Amino acid sequence: MNASANSVIVMNGVSKAFGPHVVAKDLSISVSKGEIVALLGRTGAGKSTVLNMVMGNLRADSGTVRVAGLDPYGEFKKLRGKMAVSFQQDRLLPWRTAIENVELGLLILNISKAEARKTAKLWLARVNLADAEDKYVHELSGGMRQRVSLARALAVDPELVLLDESFSQLDHVTSKALRADFSKVAREFKKTCLFVTHRIEDAIEMADRVLVLRPGAGLCLEERVAANVREDEAARAALHDRIAAAMGDHGE
Ligand SMILES: Nc1ncnc2c1ncn2[C@@H]1O[C@H](COP(=O)(O)OP(=O)(O)OP(=O)(O)O)[C@@H](O)[C@H]1O
Ligand SMILES: [Mg+2]
Repeated sequence: MNASANSVIVMNGVSKAFGPHVVAKDLSISVSKGEIVALLGRTGAGKSTVLNMVMGNLRADSGTVRVAGLDPYGEFKKLRGKMAVSFQQDRLLPWRTAIENVELGLLILNISKAEARKTAKLWLARVNLADAEDKYVHELSGGMRQRVSLARALAVDPELVLLDESFSQLDHVTSKALRADFSKVAREFKKTCLFVTHRIEDAIEMADRVLVLRPGAGLCLEERVAANVREDEAARAALHDRIAAAMGDHGE
């Protein structure tokens, strides 16, 4: 894996075990600036573990993890505001409106109230929620909540966005719209993103590059997704099959 000065995430020879249970072994991953990378694998393959090491929640047993040149575990504080996270559970605060939820991350970074409001408004509009600014969380649908969560993640202008299965529990139409919005916004604003999914289709649709993890084994496939592959039915199907095979899926 060629980690360059342009890399936002660099994992080098990382191993991680929980007791006797080896999750990652000599794993090397890098994500370049502006790149959208999908992390795939069956349940238990270690996707969330990798994300947790990248965001500094978990420490690698050996090897190095760097985000923007910093150790996310040891230098957690220095990375404040540089990393934004959106998870399956949207983690919105129920007593705050949509716009107040988006503002929160900005206020924590000591941005003025007026500036935070302006930025939050802008990002809600970008995820097509301009009309829902003042709604409380319980007044929002699951899809709308995910959009708020996404707006909150992107509003702080992070160097890196981490998503864990963010779109998967939504209905097909909503999640498709959300994926399209996310890809558009992420590309337009050149956000660097590592996202976890178990849906091959999502990965092909959104990512510039796809990584497949296998339980205990580490990285077992890495493929670039060329733009023309997305449009070409046959190429797309072939890539889908290669990813499925790497995941150890023998037909579902
Ligand atoms: N804190 C922990 N303590 C012990 N074992 C853990 C811990 N976290 C994860 N594991 C184990 O590590 C393995 C990888 O877990 P991880 O959550 O990274 O998988 P995943 O690929 O995200 O799976 P899923 O698709 O189900 O979310 C699993 O076998 C899990 O049981
Ligand atoms: Mg997981």
